[in-house]
Amino acid sequence: MYNSKITGLGFYVPENVVTNDDLSKLMDTNDAWIQERTGIKQRHWIPKGSEDTSAVMGAKAARIAIERSGLTKDDIDFIVFATLSPDYYFPGCGVQIQDMLEMDTIGAMDIRNQCSGFVYALSTADQFIKTGMYKNILVIGAEFHSNGLDLTDRGRGVSVIFGDGAGACVLSRTEDNSKGILSSHLHSQGKHAEELVVISPSIKHWVPEILENKEEDVSYFPYMNGTFVFKNAVVRFSEVIQEGLKANNLTSENIDLFIPHQANLRISQFIQHKFKLTDDQVYNNIMEYGNTTAASIIIALTEAWEKGKVKDNDVVVLAAFGSGFTWGSVIIRW
Ligand code: ACO
Repeated sequence: MYNSKITGLGFYVPENVVTNDDLSKLMDTNDAWIQERTGIKQRHWIPKGSEDTSAVMGAKAARIAIERSGLTKDDIDFIVFATLSPDYYFPGCGVQIQDMLEMDTIGAMDIRNQCSGFVYALSTADQFIKTGMYKNILVIGAEFHSNGLDLTDRGRGVSVIFGDGAGACVLSRTEDNSKGILSSHLHSQGKHAEELVVISPSIKHWVPEILENKEEDVSYFPYMNGTFVFKNAVVRFSEVIQEGLKANNLTSENIDLFIPHQANLRISQFIQHKFKLTDDQVYNNIMEYGNTTAASIIIALTEAWEKGKVKDNDVVVLAAFGSGFTWGSVIIRW
């Protein structure tokens, strides 16, 4: 069995910044409410007319990650792309990356696990490397939320949270078994699927049916039972971090850097407090980017790395919870 380690990181967000005050011009909300409940000050949204999409942003982040890994696109053996906002209903974004980066006809797969998407994607790539099937895998998380949000008062409980962006990493085989991904832990509980969901268009409820009832049918906007999601998130985050630490005979004192999925700053702070972590041990950037779902952990990890906060031999813990419900953690020795 081989170990896998991250050899290159990159992220891309659209330049266009949307502040809480900007949102208050579209819906009944305000900066104080958003900051108090979520910690978010602003997010980046793809402006109308831009060519950016989940795949396009993913490709931009991927080019940076590949360059920083010291490899070329021709060294990449496989693509794993996590998103809940793909450019097409099908096929997925992974194949678009293969084309946009002019790669050989390597395999590409999409992961549909929402906020846990990047953790699931990284774990999937790790398994391919562990078995020896591939040496270098491009792992991408990207989301184009803003075009699918309800920007009226009705959608204010959901729309203020989400941001657009993409992050990518190259995961490579390493012969050093003491370094890289130590373990990953994945969970789901589908009975809560409809607590955080976009119902349609789905094959069960296709476009003509929506149009038939277009005044009332808003099932194509995300629905979130925020309080219920919040309560489950804090429990599941804690469990899956504990599970990962235990599997590696570590305790929270051994964590050098914890990067939670950027769902809500209050969730991150709850977890930080529970595990008695200092501010230096946790990296948050939801204040600047909002919740970018499958992109959030990889954007935060890249930014933390760029700031010199990820050092050789550090224990880095990634954890996520989101729609599905799905949740998971990845423990890394950097
Ligand atoms: N601005 C002003 N007021 C608002 C807004 C807004 N944007 N949104 C809701 N309100 C109002 C509500 O109408 C309600 O008013 P009322 O008391 O008069 O009825 C009041 O604020 C409280 O609403 P709640 O929904 O109870 O607010 P809550 O404190 O639960 O915060 C939030 C909402 C921020 C969404 C929170 O529940 C949360 O963060 N949940 C978890 C989100 C999450 O982690 N999601 C998972 C990842 S996302 C994914 O997987 C795709």
